Amino acid sequence: MDPRLFKAIKYGTPVVLVALAAWIIWAPPARVGYAPEQPIAYSHAKHAGEYGIDCQYCHTGVTTGKKAGVPSMNTCMNCHVSVGYGKPGVEKLKKFYEKKQPLEWVRIHNLPDHVRFPHAPHIKQLLKDGQPTKTACTPCHGDVANMKVVEQVQSLNMGFCVNCHKDYRNDAEYKNHGVNINCNTCHY
Ligand code: HEC
Ligand code: HEC
Ligand code: HEC
Ligand code: HEC
Ligand code: HEC
Repeated sequence: MDPRLFKAIKYGTPVVLVALAAWIIWAPPARVGYAPEQPIAYSHAKHAGEYGIDCQYCHTGVTTGKKAGVPSMNTCMNCHVSVGYGKPGVEKLKKFYEKKQPLEWVRIHNLPDHVRFPHAPHIKQLLKDGQPTKTACTPCHGDVANMKVVEQVQSLNMGFCVNCHKDYRNDAEYKNHGVNINCNTCHY
């Protein structure tokens, strides 16, 4: 091999690898601020904020399963058969409902398929006794109860996840030291 080429590979490769690793861990927060328009102008600020409806009323899986889930129209119609008559958004909702046409909410937070993220164990640890459910959501989703349109506020990149896991691991008050930063905790 040409010695100059050999030198270039010898010194070049580590630089490239370090840059690649840095990119993976601190991937630019491309989705921060992502707040797509939804098929119906549903407002968290109105429902979860002003009317104080608990997050779990609609996101039923959040304390029990992997996915928080998004409610079906039936959940909306529990109230909207009789509430909000004449409001454009509510009338639109009823049209979808009558036509049995599913509402296709645009997904906002979305991890790649190789990452494992279960909600329930997080909420179990983050929700302090006597606090409302929403306090356990803010570290990752921000103050959704005050958002008219949901917006992603955290990068949700690998560094974000690992940092909090490290904090918990080092926290003397955190009794369950099950939290860890092994690759296979979060990767399939
Ligand atoms: C009355 C039902 C209802 C309540 C109560 C509710 N949500 Fe939602 N939530 C929805 C619907 C519908 C969507 C999908 C449309 C949208 O993004 O606005 C959604 C979307 C979300 C998303 C974005 C999901 C994605 O696509 O990534 C987050 C995060 C969220 N809600 C958190 C919360 C939190 C935190 C609370 C409590 C403070 C809460 N929600 C209360 C109905 C509800
Ligand atoms: C627990 C009761 C309840 C549930 C469940 C509920 N809403 Fe509402 N919603 C209300 C109330 C109360 C209002 C205010 C009505 C008014 O001002 O006349 C409202 C208002 C609205 C409005 C009009 C906002 C405006 O001021 O223009 C829309 C659109 C709406 N809701 C959509 C939804 C959707 C979509 C769902 C399901 C994801 C849902 N709601 C679930 C109680 C509820
Ligand atoms: C430790 C961070 C974290 C906390 C705390 C958290 N979430 Fe999430 N949430 C995420 C991530 C990451 C995703 C995307 C998951 C994916 O793509 O697989 C997500 C997705 C969602 C979604 C989209 C639908 C779904 O189930 O994937 C909703 C709705 C949601 N979260 C609601 C909530 C609510 C409500 C709370 C509080 C009770 C909460 N989250 C607490 C990180 C968190
Ligand atoms: C705000 C702090 C915090 C953030 C941010 C966070 N985690 Fe965690 N995570 C925890 C804690 C605390 C536990 C331990 C839960 C327990 O004791 O069961 C945990 C546990 C886990 C587990 C193991 C759950 C089980 O028992 O099966 C996985 C997987 C995980 N986290 C993935 C993630 C991913 C992926 C992200 C980033 C999208 C993330 N976490 C962000 C605090 C956090
Ligand atoms: C606490 C959870 C967590 C742990 C522990 C973790 N990762 Fe990740 N990792 C993630 C998340 C979340 C992403 C997705 C980041 C994004 O989408 O920006 C990711 C992305 C990656 C990617 C990038 C893949 C791509 O799609 O670009 C690689 C490679 C990777 N991780 C390797 C590792 C290795 C190796 C370890 C162990 C040293 C590890 N991860 C430990 C959460 C974790």
